[in-house]
Amino acid sequence: MKKVGIIGVGEYLPKKILTNADLEKMVDTSDEWIVARTGIKERHIAAKVEASSDMALQASLQALESARIKPQDLDLIIVATITPDMPLPSTACVLQNSLQAKKAFCFDVSAACAGFIYALTVAQQFIARGGCKNALVIGVEKLSSITDWKDRNTCVLFGDGAGAAVLSEVKSGGILSSYLGSDGSAGELLMVPAGGSRLPASHDTVDKRMHYVKMRGNELFKIAVVTMTHAAQIALKQAGLECKDVDLVIPHQANIRIIMAMAKKLKLCEDKIYLNIEKHGNMSSASTIIALSQAVKEGRVKKGDIILLDAFGSGLTWGACVIKW
Ligand code: UT7
Repeated sequence: MKKVGIIGVGEYLPKKILTNADLEKMVDTSDEWIVARTGIKERHIAAKVEASSDMALQASLQALESARIKPQDLDLIIVATITPDMPLPSTACVLQNSLQAKKAFCFDVSAACAGFIYALTVAQQFIARGGCKNALVIGVEKLSSITDWKDRNTCVLFGDGAGAAVLSEVKSGGILSSYLGSDGSAGELLMVPAGGSRLPASHDTVDKRMHYVKMRGNELFKIAVVTMTHAAQIALKQAGLECKDVDLVIPHQANIRIIMAMAKKLKLCEDKIYLNIEKHGNMSSASTIIALSQAVKEGRVKKGDIILLDAFGSGLTWGACVIKW
């Protein structure tokens, strides 16, 4: 099996910023409540005309440039998203066309907040087994398009953005382990009820606001802490490492209190945890890869460092991945 690593990263955030003060004018909430309960101060919101593939394109061009790879050299494109441009074709195929990456085969992965770790693990398998050489893995969301801006329980949480990683064979290090899990029995805790084959779009589903995210946050919160802690422990064990060996943890950014509770259970110091939730909120599939890209640019990730990615979300799905940079 070949060693596979991330050789380039990139990210894109839409220009418009929605602050907690802006939200105070839209729903019955306060900056104080949002900061204390979530850690979020602002989030980026895509323009009306900006689709997920448009954001993915910008992040991809940056990642390809940092990897010094041309779109024509890509063999595989995987887009992790729960907000595709449209039900079909896949956002990965739309992106392939924008990039003119004609050699690549392309598909989307739907695993919500764990989406990037799922897609990364799938791409790794293809390269490790020699099925392809270079892969582009994206996490992108336009969550603003499925957010109910009248529901204070959810609308204060989400943001839009895209992150991208180029994967290839590496001589040493790379992805040391990855652990994925799912529990479909708790799917109703976080869902968009309509718009699929169960409840196709109709006047009735639109009137009932069923095309927006519905979440039972309190119940999810407790599962998130336990599951992210467990996923981190398993991925580290598989890599033959312990928490003390980790240089930087890149957790899914759903709630600062979830992240800190997990850190406490794992006995991790706060300075080993990368946070961007304050400025971006929860961007589902895009959160971990945007955070990784920003951490690399800020010099928080050095050659030889042990990085732990850890995420949890709708499905339920979860995943953790250990990378030697
Ligand atoms: O992306 C991965 C999956 N997602 C998650 O893992 C999210 C996990 N859940 C959470 O992050 C938290 O549960 C939330 C941030 C969503 C909510 O925080 P909480 O501390 O669990 O609050 P709560 O749902 O228990 O609500 C407490 C109170 C309620 O009022 P009452 O019933 O006690 O009078 C809510 O109605 O806070 C109220 N509330 C708000 N108040 C002001 C809920 N949303 C807001 C708001 N502003 N935006």
